[in-house]
Amino acid sequence: MRHLAIIMDGNGRWAKARGRIRLQGHRAGADTLERVMGYCREAGIRYLTVYAFSTENWKRPKAEVSGLMRLLSSFIRSKARKLVKDGIRFRTIGRIGDLPGKLQGEIAQLERKTAGGDFTLTVALSYGGRAEIVDAANRWLASNPAAPLDEAAFSSFMYAPDIPDPDLVIRTSGEIRTSNFLLWETAYSEWYFTDVFWPDFGREEFDKALASYSKRERRMGGVNESGCEKNG
Ligand code: IPE
Ligand code: IPE
Ligand code: MG
Repeated sequence: MRHLAIIMDGNGRWAKARGRIRLQGHRAGADTLERVMGYCREAGIRYLTVYAFSTENWKRPKAEVSGLMRLLSSFIRSKARKLVKDGIRFRTIGRIGDLPGKLQGEIAQLERKTAGGDFTLTVALSYGGRAEIVDAANRWLASNPAAPLDEAAFSSFMYAPDIPDPDLVIRTSGEIRTSNFLLWETAYSEWYFTDVFWPDFGREEFDKALASYSKRERRMGGVNESGCEKNG
């Protein structure tokens, strides 16, 4: 598997179950992300994309939104050195221009510093799958197109056209929906859902998801090797 994508969900409920505030759940979630990056590298995965903040998450209470923005800033500041040292390339997708100016600057700096990394961590921030498609359409229009689009040409206007589509998407916390994550890129991705809240997502869960993926037969609309149309 080249690319794993994760909808890191359930931080709030994890905190609530422990009588803590939601922000403490988000903090625990950031620690989980660091651990999961390690599992990915051990498994030989080259790309990890995580959903950290959606275009819809702006409607959360102001205190939670600003707490999340501060947490992102502190994640970037405290992990910068380690990311460089470990060869982790930090990237973002989403409407980065909507984020606080200071955070935008920290992101740009970290992206520059880690540009040489061979493992790519992409963080979806102020990200929406529909927003990405609309932004791509507008960029295409602005390019004074001379010819009509095909799928490959349209893809080139997405936020990260050089990153392969996800092979597997994991969503934690028992919700079975996309919540507007990578709508275009997951057309043929496999999905894995677990009830575990993101802060509790550990090695065992990671291995289970990968084991499930390895049993899937990805036909991409074709037929399997035996020529039988059913899943053999
Ligand atoms: C996911 O956890 C993280 C973000 C959306 C920022 P939630 O905050 O959605 O946690 P739940 O789903 O309310 O438990
Ligand atoms: C999706 O989770 C967004 C992130 C994990 C960042 P949400 O918690 O926002 O999604 P819904 O509201 O349950 O669909
Ligand atoms: Mg949620």
